[in-house]
Amino acid sequence: MAKAKSRWVCQQCGFQTSRSMGRCTECGNWNSFVEELAPEDDVAKKGFAARLSNVSAAPSTANKALPLSEINTEESGRLATGMVGLDEVLGGGLMPGSVILIAGDPGVGKSTLLMQVAKNLSKHSQILYITGEESAAQVRIRAGRLGVDSDNVLVASEQNVVNAAEMMLSSDAAVCVVDSVQSVYHPEIASAAGSVSQVREGTQLLIHAAKRKNIATILVGHVTKEGTIAGPRVLEHMVDVVLQFEGDRTRQLRILRAVKNRFGSTAELAIFSMSEDGLKEVDNPSALFLGDRLSKVGQKQAPSGTAVIAGGEGSRSLLLEVQALTVSTPNPSPRRVVNGWDYNRLLQLVAVLDKRSGLHLARLDVYVNIVGGLDFSDPAGDLGIALAIATSFLDRSIDPGLVAVGEVGLTGEIRPVLNLGQRLKEASRLGFKKALVPKASLPLNSAPKGMEIIGVETISEALQKAMPNINFVKKPDSTERAPGSRAENLEDESVFSI
Ligand code: TYD
Ligand code: MG
Repeated sequence: MAKAKSRWVCQQCGFQTSRSMGRCTECGNWNSFVEELAPEDDVAKKGFAARLSNVSAAPSTANKALPLSEINTEESGRLATGMVGLDEVLGGGLMPGSVILIAGDPGVGKSTLLMQVAKNLSKHSQILYITGEESAAQVRIRAGRLGVDSDNVLVASEQNVVNAAEMMLSSDAAVCVVDSVQSVYHPEIASAAGSVSQVREGTQLLIHAAKRKNIATILVGHVTKEGTIAGPRVLEHMVDVVLQFEGDRTRQLRILRAVKNRFGSTAELAIFSMSEDGLKEVDNPSALFLGDRLSKVGQKQAPSGTAVIAGGEGSRSLLLEVQALTVSTPNPSPRRVVNGWDYNRLLQLVAVLDKRSGLHLARLDVYVNIVGGLDFSDPAGDLGIALAIATSFLDRSIDPGLVAVGEVGLTGEIRPVLNLGQRLKEASRLGFKKALVPKASLPLNSAPKGMEIIGVETISEALQKAMPNINFVKKPDSTERAPGSRAENLEDESVFSI
């Protein structure tokens, strides 16, 4: 490897050296050096650039500014991947020439998903599958397992990214997969494959090739949710679309969502289940996530500490069960543990429940879990989570057929949420008969038939409506106390007894 052709650049101040330094002598930052190709010395890059300009390029409109009205926005060229959920997440299929990064933990099923996409696309287009991780034979074995046998799927086992880009330039493929960006290397960079420099320079070349030949290019990146592995995170701003593929291994569920999308919304998500013969789209994800909750709808009581919330991101709503457990602890600083929900939001909810509804949670451990392994960040889940925590604290239960939708503010007010009608429609479809919703959103234009919709203004009112046997709201003699305060809401602990 020719070390002389690269340089080390401080990512904080831009200072350049010929070797790596622990601390930048210019700006004083630690561990800020990343190896980059020095363009003036880079023969390979020049050669590649010359090759790029020889290729009959896709018509370029980039050189001329046009009035808005003359810019063509036709999107007829999108390629359907044959997987409806994936197409939705992409914003309507693969855009020719776009570069998509699909990031996820090793083993989650990225290669499987892409081979299935290749299978569907191969009916009408050619696909170039470049693998740096596996041998071509291994890819073929997986393809066989997934029933892919089209000659339109071309497989190359290649780790040199310059060769990979050349391969793209000379191919007729409509779609190219590079599996993975961590396994390919640029021969002019001395750093190991998978390092920030390698991943960045390699991706730059692949993006050039993709744009030049108008090939929709899907890059695979191994990354954990925290982005602990160097690489894909530094690519996020270079590529057009970043998809995150997450999994709950125990239930074989896989969730695909867009983190960034230049051609569509980032609110959509697709849900798959991993089976013996590949990934299958889950048609009715709410039913899957709610599991045995649905069998309890129509019964009298749900277990204490549970509630149902309705996510409304994207074009479809998703109903999820939330479970909470509050338990006394000898520990002076009680634990707050949350799975699938925002930790700081939980702290906020616990504080609001304590201050505005008199639930003394300060000495208790509070655990919250969104069932099904989905990461859920929609604030519309606040109300349901508050209900679950309250029912666990009080050891009471609510109607299993009740769904709660609403954001909880710091004064205990229930705030309106987006797409309420759509969320309730999905709940009604699954058999839910009652909904607690923000009063400010009523009346609804499109309320589902046969559903009792209860508008609430405060968290205490919501708890009262969900648990009518407990007295949460105190008599009107506490006029001198601040509205919504704990003192106004209850007299003493006995208000929680039936
Ligand atoms: P893989 O796609 O290789 O994961 P990644 O590329 O993200 O590292 O597949 C991961 C797991 O999926 C692997 O443990 C085997 C399993 N699998 C199935 O269960 N069914 C299948 O049809 C295939 C191809 C894989
Ligand atoms: Mg793989």
